[in-house]
Amino acid sequence: MVFRSIYTIFELCSKILPFGNENKTYFILHFAHLFVTLNKFKIGCTSEIQRKTSFPLVFRSICTIFAGDMGKGKLAKFADMETYENVFQYPYSVVEQVPFDMKGHWHEQYFKNDNPIVLELGCGKGEYTVGLAKMFPDVNFIGVDIKGARMWTGATQALQEGLKNVAFLRTNIEVIDRFFSAGEVNEIWLTFSDPQMKNPRKRLTSTWFLERYRKFLSDGGIIHLKTDSNFLFTYTSYLVEKNVLPVLEKTTDLYADACSDSVAASIQTYYESMWLARGLNIKYMKFCLPHDGELVEPDVEIELDDYRSYHRDKRSSKDKAK
Ligand SMILES: C[S@@+](CC[C@H](N)C(=O)[O-])C[C@H]1O[C@@H](n2cnc3c(N)ncnc32)[C@H](O)[C@@H]1O
Repeated sequence: MVFRSIYTIFELCSKILPFGNENKTYFILHFAHLFVTLNKFKIGCTSEIQRKTSFPLVFRSICTIFAGDMGKGKLAKFADMETYENVFQYPYSVVEQVPFDMKGHWHEQYFKNDNPIVLELGCGKGEYTVGLAKMFPDVNFIGVDIKGARMWTGATQALQEGLKNVAFLRTNIEVIDRFFSAGEVNEIWLTFSDPQMKNPRKRLTSTWFLERYRKFLSDGGIIHLKTDSNFLFTYTSYLVEKNVLPVLEKTTDLYADACSDSVAASIQTYYESMWLARGLNIKYMKFCLPHDGELVEPDVEIELDDYRSYHRDKRSSKDKAK
């Protein structure tokens, strides 16, 4: 019944709108997404705040169908990426078999300069990678993510704008140390990473990941965390405190506290705009990661982000996690 309704609307729309064949699957997927969102809007909103925050999502779904990403399907984006000189693709499935010759040679083989290298891990569409590259032409930026269709947006923009200080690496962050040698990277940006409330090891600021970053980040290199998540921010604050990592900047409300030249406040990502539309504060922390000393996990209970209950982190009866 549900699918028949979606398909009927799809048939109707495809008669009046000029969509090519390659976009039809994409169209159906977006329509299904809209249906689910509308349904959530109608029956899932238990509070006034949820009703208010659902509206931008419904609006966004409609815009996506009729304007946004309809221009190009996923397959076409993947095909583009194969030809892009600024994209390197090494998903987990091939990373074991294929050696990465540029490890330790990004400067001379790709960037052709000695400028510092900055990574954006979980870059999505690469707003920070591209935005910072335009702001700082004497710094090199590499966006890392496993989702190729998202990365396509930033990679395409960088090529179109002739940005020579930008690259994208499609891989799993778990194996990120295979692509860079000791001291090759100077800074890391973590932009709206999944807080991974159930699994501490998967958090991109966990000791497990920090140990990996230490293998290629310069001694005392900088990590920027920008997040909507109170859970991830609190967890990282405890971890930084426990390990006495030097904190350079910290705010729980970036846009209220930011000074006019704040780099963190100057670029907004796709996920950030969604969280801002929901009325959430954006948190930001900039800290250093020295190489010496064993890193220890904080042993604290942290209140879960309640607005994520219907996302990937399924909630148990507990409302706190370590
Ligand atoms: C919540 S999105 C944020 C995207 C972007 N930074 C933004 O703010 O719009 C998290 C991104 O991290 C990527 N990601 C999460 N875990 C990853 C992993 N282990 N390896 C590679 N990418 C990962 C996802 O594919 C996704 O694009």
